[in-house]
Amino acid sequence: MMTTGSAVSADLLARFRAIVGDKHAITDGDEKAPYLIEERGLYHGKTPVVLRPGSTEEVAAICKLASETRTPLVPQGGNTGLVGGQIPHHGEILVSLRRLDKVREVDPSSNTMICEAGVVLANAHEAAEKAERIFPLWLGSEGSCTIGGNLSTNAGGVAALSYGVARDLVLGLEVVLADGRILNGLSKLKKDNTGYDLRHLFMGAEGTLGIITAAVLKLMPKPRSVETAFVGLASPEIALELLKLSQSSAGSTLTSFELIADIAVQFALQHGPGLRAPLSDAHPWYVLMEISSPREDARSLIEGTLEAAMEAGLVDDAVIASSLDQRNAFWTLREVVTPAQKCEGGSIKHDVSVPVAAVPRFIAEADAAVVKLIPGARPVAFGHLGDGNIHYNISQPVGADKAAYLARWHEVNDVVHAIVHKHGGSISAEHGIGFLKRGELPRVKDPVALDLMRALKRTLDPLNILNPGKVV
Ligand code: FAD
Ligand code: MLT
Ligand code: ZN
Repeated sequence: MMTTGSAVSADLLARFRAIVGDKHAITDGDEKAPYLIEERGLYHGKTPVVLRPGSTEEVAAICKLASETRTPLVPQGGNTGLVGGQIPHHGEILVSLRRLDKVREVDPSSNTMICEAGVVLANAHEAAEKAERIFPLWLGSEGSCTIGGNLSTNAGGVAALSYGVARDLVLGLEVVLADGRILNGLSKLKKDNTGYDLRHLFMGAEGTLGIITAAVLKLMPKPRSVETAFVGLASPEIALELLKLSQSSAGSTLTSFELIADIAVQFALQHGPGLRAPLSDAHPWYVLMEISSPREDARSLIEGTLEAAMEAGLVDDAVIASSLDQRNAFWTLREVVTPAQKCEGGSIKHDVSVPVAAVPRFIAEADAAVVKLIPGARPVAFGHLGDGNIHYNISQPVGADKAAYLARWHEVNDVVHAIVHKHGGSISAEHGIGFLKRGELPRVKDPVALDLMRALKRTLDPLNILNPGKVV
């Protein structure tokens, strides 16, 4: 059994435990371990206790006691975050929201669903589906990430192109403030101009301004037809031309447009779960595109788009999924890129966005700069081209020492982020700032914006109880 040291007194610990009950206050080292190690093993946190509240009132009591005793808290959902925001780096108490896992209501007439923060995204999908609706937020981590985490990181994912990012899919929020007060904003209203729209403060705040306990989510009618194609092509420039052509022909029914470099596909085929290459030959780049239509016309739309693209010489080869299994296989290939890349040793990640038109130039310039800095480094570019959001994750040179390579993380980031900055882009398109990028934020953020962010933090969390040392 592991043991963990802690600055929280035994008496105070007992008061926190009493709020959730001993069964839901984890102090055993082995049981705590899965909450303390994040996805890539980059961070190993420590905490005296993992509290697992079972109601909004219990979360409120935890925050109240934390404020009274100036005890810092770290909120956590599914622990899939990629910037270390959900990890207690300095022995803070960890508050896991996973027991708040009820879908409180599905209202197909209002096209809304009320989910508690700990509902796993895939379970939210299932609940919407039962009512012939969709909740259109899809991420590779959807089997583990939670609604609270999705809203707190303002997650993006593979369909933001058409449906928007997480904050666009929320009508109301229930939030526990640092002092334990409950902000009841579970409104279903689309139109409500009674002053400041507070919900947007908490979305993307990464747990630094309040703990989200429930949300009113927007639902959409289930599309009548969906078609998915896997396309081989020569370059990101051509992929951009295909994007423009597809948007002209399919409009907002073009719901996904993912760019994938051949090296990413090779990694996925090599390390993924028994996948086959969708096309008979390899191509330098691929696009995974999906059309979702409220009519029965997705097939003709995607065929028409690809025919026009072939005629324009944009596409080298393409296949349209002929079954649900094949569609799922295309998506699995896309979603296993991140886990597959792990098998290739160290990966230095960049979750960046630039204006859509600048993506090809960004990739070319970053490739040249990275390989100059670390000869043999293997850039693996993939992601949401339709949103200008590329995951530019660089695998270590074959045979290199992993620890020595990862030690160059910030040096490599500096080079890539300088190119992002030159193109007017963002150093965090969808994963957030968390712990990983906090040091870099002052260099890239408008100073007035940063001042306002700090002022908001002081107003909502004057004692710095909530996720201290993250974001600002
Ligand atoms: P956690 O990791 O537990 O927490 C994330 C942050 O939110 C932390 O700062 C935490 O303190 C805070 N937080 C969590 N719950 C609450 C709450 N209830 N109230 C207040 N603060 C809270 N992200 C994307 O945007 N798009 C993608 O396409 C995408 N793909 C991914 C694919 C893989 C394979 C993996 C591993 C991750 C991916 N991610 C992606 C990143 C990650 O899944 C998202 O950031 C997700 O939204 C995090 O949800 P979570 O429940 O795991 O949150
Ligand atoms: C994805 O879109 O697959 C993730 O956000 C990418 C990543 O892991 O960097
Ligand atoms: Zn992504």
